[in-house]
Amino acid sequence: MLERSELAENAINCLHDEQYDMPLNLQNLNHTNMLFMGGRETESLNGDWNFAVDLLDTGLRQRWYNMKPMPAEKRSEPWDYDPYVGETISVPSCWQMQKEKWYFFEGSAWYTKAWDYDAAVQDERIFLRIGAAQYDCKIFLNGEFIGNHYGGSTPFFAEFTDKLSAGRNWIMCCVNNNRTLDRVPMRNTDWFNYGGIYRDIEIVRTPKEIIRDLHVYLVPNSQYNLIHIDVEAEGSTDHVKITIAELGINTSIVLTEGKGSIKLEVQPELWSPENPKLYDITATFCQDQINDRVGFRQIEVKGTDIFLNGVNTFLRGISVHEDDQDLGKVVTPEDLKRRFQHAKELNCNYMRFAHYTHHEMAIKMADELGFLIWAEIPVYWAIDFENPATYQDAENQLIEMIKRDRNRASVIMWSVGNENADTDPRLIFMSNLVKTARKNDPCRLVSAACLVNHAKNKIEDRLVNHLDVIGINEYYGWYEEVFDDLIEIGENSNPGKPVVISETGADGFIGEGAIKTGFFSESYMTEVYQKQTEYLERLDYIKGISPWILYEFRAERRQNIFQSGWNRKGLICNDKSTKKAAFHLLADFYVKLKSQSV
Ligand code: GCU
Repeated sequence: MLERSELAENAINCLHDEQYDMPLNLQNLNHTNMLFMGGRETESLNGDWNFAVDLLDTGLRQRWYNMKPMPAEKRSEPWDYDPYVGETISVPSCWQMQKEKWYFFEGSAWYTKAWDYDAAVQDERIFLRIGAAQYDCKIFLNGEFIGNHYGGSTPFFAEFTDKLSAGRNWIMCCVNNNRTLDRVPMRNTDWFNYGGIYRDIEIVRTPKEIIRDLHVYLVPNSQYNLIHIDVEAEGSTDHVKITIAELGINTSIVLTEGKGSIKLEVQPELWSPENPKLYDITATFCQDQINDRVGFRQIEVKGTDIFLNGVNTFLRGISVHEDDQDLGKVVTPEDLKRRFQHAKELNCNYMRFAHYTHHEMAIKMADELGFLIWAEIPVYWAIDFENPATYQDAENQLIEMIKRDRNRASVIMWSVGNENADTDPRLIFMSNLVKTARKNDPCRLVSAACLVNHAKNKIEDRLVNHLDVIGINEYYGWYEEVFDDLIEIGENSNPGKPVVISETGADGFIGEGAIKTGFFSESYMTEVYQKQTEYLERLDYIKGISPWILYEFRAERRQNIFQSGWNRKGLICNDKSTKKAAFHLLADFYVKLKSQSV
């Protein structure tokens, strides 16, 4: 018969407790415990996990994470979910794409997997790394709450050292993708609210003494002859050995309280889209060794122009979301190769990875293939700018993005947001993000996609005073009417720094039921691109363009008969193969721009 345990007791009492998640929202898995991953061996935990959706957070209320595995026949009290048996889900994935019944599910979902630990290796440290989980991810190990991470697009680590049992351990993750006003992004976005552990999940085993971080860059002094290396390490030795063989560098960095820096006079071959030269760097500290492939380049603003390695560079770009009709927000090497191939066919040298941090594979591929990247955090539309917790979340996502990718030569801009109304709280919030970006990375530009004052046809967003490059999203021909305003904006605005068109475009549907002319027809989309390119070619104040967008993408708020839950502004359909006429028009336009720039 029934033998009530403390769990059963709690299952009754918790019904009256609406503070149940407060102790489980430490957000202690954040940029402060990131681990440099270059060259590290990992043990993948990708694959099938036990899975259950949990709309009412019953799992947190009833503490499913404290249940022990046992056959149903042996349980001595009722239970509402058994983390150890039942449905499974393949990780990485977005649960929406796994089963029809989960397509519009928003809430918490439970992932459970066993991991067998052989305690043979002494003095090692063991971490769980998750490449990204949308949005709040709470980690439990053998029933103990380790911590949680906020943010749907940046990696995070939970340290398991000294908490593991020899043999079988149980890892549980409670992932919640609720849309709320205080999150980043908040509850209203023009992209689909995927959920789940949608990038790799893996175990990282390191020696006891480790290198936490390695930051390598060309000192932006326009002489291209000085590289700066920062390291952070935890251990007894007071130096880190650095090797860049191809540059004849074999030196040590002395550590003070775990941190050290060095400047080295060398003349590296510069990285650029035309010549994406990368150097192998190795860092050794006690038993730990990491490596990376780093390009050296200088991006800077002079007046209203953007210079790469001293060459005035026009950014011929395209915007991209992470979205796939089959995989949702999961990206694969094949998907990324196709993305860059299409960008190459467009004659791009630049891409805007909107509106959040993309997979590290994408950034590394941009390094190898030679594309300039605008990277971004999802401070999108009406963020809760007056909420300190929201700022902490945004700032953490920004630092996590920067720490993950600041060795990537391809990233030239950190964007701190998109289309936010110019209010006092927003100005404080985002100018502080700009300061944080500069503090964590001295060799990149800071931007944002700003709104134009269309009443005055002027760029007067106060945030622009804090930026290096101003992005403006303009949709003449789609949301705005008078193309000549584009000329007036240039004449009325004198921001004294480069302006790029961070978005422009129009929807064009070419599926079943498509219309020949008018809004949402391919012909109208082409007309808009024709007129846009005619105007943009004449505007000297524009130093780059990233039209919206390479591929059609899911957006719940797009439900007319041509959209059916998709934003149709893609130059290529959601099959990521069928090109619309505007694709070829833009490609030809960029050929022309490229010929003019030599
Ligand atoms: C906005 C916004 C995009 C959105 C686009 C659109 O500029 O930044 O996220 O998808 O317009 O309306 O299609």
